[in-house]
Amino acid sequence: MEQLDQLVQQAAAEFAAAVDGAQLEQAKARYLGKSGALTERLKALGKLEPEARREAGAAINAAKTAIEAALEGRRNALREAALLAQLAAEALDVTLPGRGGVQGGLHPVSRTLERVERLFGSIGFVVADGPEIETDWHNFTALNTPENHPARSMHDTFYLEGHDDVLLRTHTSPVQIRAMQAHVARHRDADAMPDLRIIAPGRVFRVDSDATHSPMFHQVEGLWVGETVSFADLKGVIADFLRRFFETDDLQVRFRPSFFPFTEPSAEIDVAFMSGALEGRWLEIAGCGVVHPNVLRFGGIDPERYTGFAFGMGPDRLTMLRYGVNDLRLFFEGDLRFLGQFR
Ligand code: PHE
Repeated sequence: MEQLDQLVQQAAAEFAAAVDGAQLEQAKARYLGKSGALTERLKALGKLEPEARREAGAAINAAKTAIEAALEGRRNALREAALLAQLAAEALDVTLPGRGGVQGGLHPVSRTLERVERLFGSIGFVVADGPEIETDWHNFTALNTPENHPARSMHDTFYLEGHDDVLLRTHTSPVQIRAMQAHVARHRDADAMPDLRIIAPGRVFRVDSDATHSPMFHQVEGLWVGETVSFADLKGVIADFLRRFFETDDLQVRFRPSFFPFTEPSAEIDVAFMSGALEGRWLEIAGCGVVHPNVLRFGGIDPERYTGFAFGMGPDRLTMLRYGVNDLRLFFEGDLRFLGQFR
């Protein structure tokens, strides 16, 4: 009896010392296995007298039940510990502070384009667009610049091999033609066509690259066609826009005679600031003019009844002036040290 109690205690101690399932199974075998300590005792019962055998048998069975209970208890404890360890290993620490979000920002030229759209939108201009891969007809011919016209040479650009009639547009002016055609189609059945007022911001391409020229740059085209639109309206709209864009009345606007095949008369628009780093210098920011009758005709509009003005601004230039940037290429190099300053 004494010995059996000891055996039970010893087994319980060994089970408790087992650190995993394998060790526990080995300990179990030492007591309950085929030649385990308890099994040997059961085998020895046969040699006892019937009376003693019954008594000893009952005691051995009680010990066996106690050992099995200790085994089961340890099994459960090990299983629970394994589960807790797994939970701890796979846990997400939701209390960890975040890694700090990186705050992005709009590209400075995009900010200018949004600003231009908003300012012109406030006087009734809607945004229009056209493809960057444009037909030769829209880019030149319909803008009163037929093949072999000398003005084409100032617009050297990228052509697509095997497709003579398409090119990367050299300006946003082809959107004038597309917008006029769409406007005419939309109001075909009306006796009086309402005014057409659009601005068309976008990318344009030329074979040029230095501090003030990039082979890809931006333009914003403007067009207003109606029954009484004149050069005076153009001057008012542009002067008012520039004062609002630069947020100052302290600037002068000059219309310098120029030439474009698609406007007549034509002018370059220069602006001069009356104070600041650029004080007193005239800076060219746009070309403009009264829409040539041939262009209206190509757009499907009767030049006897309607007139219009158009302009093409350089928003990259406007951005340089607004933020005091002296090299255009900085805008397109993607250097975050530069771009991060415009958030
Ligand atoms: N498209 C001309 C250019 O790129 C600018 C312009 C637009 C001039 C509209 C007059 C009218 O140089």
